[in-house]
Amino acid sequence: MGLRGLGRDSMLHKKQWFQSFFILFITVFLFVASFIMPFSEQPLAIASGSDHITLTWERDPRTTQTITWRTEVRNLEGMVRYAEIGSGSFPHKAKIAAAGVEELSTNVGKMNIYSVTLTGLKSGTTYMYQVSDGDAWSESYTFSTAAVKVSKFKFLVFGDSQSINYEAWETTLHQAYRANPDAVFFTNMGDLVDVGQDYAHWDKWFSAAKGVIDTISAMPLTGNHENYTPERRFSMPVLFTAQFKVPLNGPEGLKKQAYSFDYGDVHFIVLDSQAGEQAQFLPTMLEEQKTWLEQDLEATNKKWKVVFLHRPPYSNKMGGANPNVKRAFVPILDKYHVDVAFTAHEHAYARTYPLYHEQVVDSPRGTIYVATGRSGTKTYKDTEINEWNTFFYNPLDEPNYLVVEIEGNVLKVKTYKQSGILIDDWSIQKAILH
Ligand SMILES: [Fe+2]
Repeated sequence: MGLRGLGRDSMLHKKQWFQSFFILFITVFLFVASFIMPFSEQPLAIASGSDHITLTWERDPRTTQTITWRTEVRNLEGMVRYAEIGSGSFPHKAKIAAAGVEELSTNVGKMNIYSVTLTGLKSGTTYMYQVSDGDAWSESYTFSTAAVKVSKFKFLVFGDSQSINYEAWETTLHQAYRANPDAVFFTNMGDLVDVGQDYAHWDKWFSAAKGVIDTISAMPLTGNHENYTPERRFSMPVLFTAQFKVPLNGPEGLKKQAYSFDYGDVHFIVLDSQAGEQAQFLPTMLEEQKTWLEQDLEATNKKWKVVFLHRPPYSNKMGGANPNVKRAFVPILDKYHVDVAFTAHEHAYARTYPLYHEQVVDSPRGTIYVATGRSGTKTYKDTEINEWNTFFYNPLDEPNYLVVEIEGNVLKVKTYKQSGILIDDWSIQKAILH
């Protein structure tokens, strides 16, 4: 071997060594990066086909059903096929409804959100349905319309589900529904997710809700965390409003963040209490909701009035008072005798005596404020019973959920730990007001 050959061998050896070093460097870099990158910045695998199949009521629960789902971005027609269960029509003689589609841009990529409201349904009836991404049909699910005359019904209430991994939320929701398969809808009281403008959180939230949210309607509300971006800036809760097709009867600028609907003899009102987070986008949001709330309550003739709002007017947390929310809404809830106002945000379970003009009252004029605890992982130790509370429990050991049943003149609430242990059991007997 001559000198020239030795030089070539040496060059080859250096080149191989450099290649090996480069591969090792890239491997180590990717390994370290996978730990330090927040999971929101990692690419989200959007499986082909339809997922996040979600039921809501944009319109009348007796004759309509809204169905929303997600696919990767494709230029195909989405549709639903549906038929009355047991009619022998499904799937081949099922009716078909074409869905509208919106492209949703998120921090993890673009996706298609399909949605359709089925109309002209028979009341008090169970239907079977499938959704299509234009290519393939999903598995089959069912939904049920409300009866024209509802003698009794039950719904589920979940406090903040914001979590690290959403497994606690999954278990709480599924345990609650397994124990109450006759519930007709559920609500989630805001702070569904920890970072409302990070789609990775929603991906986990919806995956956890699969098996319930495709079978009964979800009628949720926003919390402060729905307004947070991954960079911890404020935003309008656009990922929430893009995915939950609830009634569009709220005030201008707050559609789907404030809305109302009826089921049986109950008028339900959802409010948005995130005045601070939305101040730069909608500085008059409380004023606008006050006007809308008063008109909405004036117009209803339902026996029961139930309000959902995230921030509690009557707090259990040190420094947790929300005077602007209290000043805006409580006088109107007093004036129209709202029976129950469910709240969240502090992750404690508590209920007040009936309150009217900020005084404890015996009469049925009072409104009971119920702090709904937590359905996810986050807990607070600095909550306590207050003078206006007749019951308080801090769910540090397990998440919890509420079951509300209305029959005629009686509204019953039972609150359970995730594992099914009863925490609280109370009711309101509606008396005739003179
Ligand atoms: Fe909150």
